[in-house]
Amino acid sequence: MADQTKTALITGASSGIGRELANCFAQDKYNLILVALEPDLLAQAALELKDKFGIQVTTIVKDLFKRDAPFEVYNEIKASGTRIDVLVNDAGQGQYGTFDTTDINRELDIIQLNIGAYVVFTKLYLQEFKARNEGKILLVGSIAGELPGPLQAVYHGTKAFVNSFAESIQEENKDSNVTITNLLPGITKTDFFNKAHMTQAKNVAEGQGMAAADVAKDGYKALMNGESRVISGIMNNVQVGMSKVMPDPLVAANVHQQSAPVDGDESAR
Ligand SMILES: NC(=O)c1ccc[n+]([C@@H]2O[C@H](COP(=O)([O-])OP(=O)(O)OC[C@H]3O[C@@H](n4cnc5c(N)ncnc54)[C@H](OP(=O)(O)O)[C@@H]3O)[C@@H](O)[C@H]2O)c1
Repeated sequence: MADQTKTALITGASSGIGRELANCFAQDKYNLILVALEPDLLAQAALELKDKFGIQVTTIVKDLFKRDAPFEVYNEIKASGTRIDVLVNDAGQGQYGTFDTTDINRELDIIQLNIGAYVVFTKLYLQEFKARNEGKILLVGSIAGELPGPLQAVYHGTKAFVNSFAESIQEENKDSNVTITNLLPGITKTDFFNKAHMTQAKNVAEGQGMAAADVAKDGYKALMNGESRVISGIMNNVQVGMSKVMPDPLVAANVHQQSAPVDGDESAR
């Protein structure tokens, strides 16, 4: 059981994997600070967590597409005097469609959310955690970062950044008590695919994917054990393992085939 006074900051905690991670922390009696964009969903998550687990929950509504937003969240928490013990970088989005048809401004927003916000939060809290020589950071990466992503080229690129970034800062901090854990989910049944306009992709339309609660439990366990990386799910481990021994163009062709639209129209929606 965690110390009653510990607090976890979770971005993207209003739905999907982040929401399930919030449950894991709440079960261990962490107080929570939840960040997301839609105020109603966030308020509902906070209410449910307070009612069910009797913990303190603070919500911060923020659009993490905005470059200043992570700094604003950090300063708001600092001003409140709350000490953060665990940082969870989860908020992320994707966009489906061939790269020549997708909206560049949306893609720049996604790069800011999936990379920029992760980098800012991680730097600010890593500095605090190092000064105290304690603290835990969870990055929600993806097996997408281990594979090329035709029809999700920018999204896969952002997750490749997260996976590489995680390995670099883990090495830099290997002698510290601060731990950095990278969770790599595969397809997970969340609202991600609606937001990415990807519901027509073959693997999504077929209903493939893990439950968000199972993915979150794998991530939480690895985080609490101070592990550097966990790929959630046996089949996802197999897919990543196979990709290491197959020629790159064949891996790309396989991903393309699995995620091709059922109606054959590959342009962005
Ligand atoms: N689902 C998958 O198959 C899968 C696989 C591998 C990795 N992942 C990763 O898992 C993480 C969580 O995704 P999910 O599948 O749980 O999707 P989700 O259910 O759509 O949850 C995404 C969360 O991020 C928040 N968010 C999105 N855009 C935001 C913005 N501009 N500002 C602030 N918050 C924002 C959402 O809040 P609002 O609802 O308020 O916007 C929501 O709480 C992402 O990093 C994703 O890349 C997902």
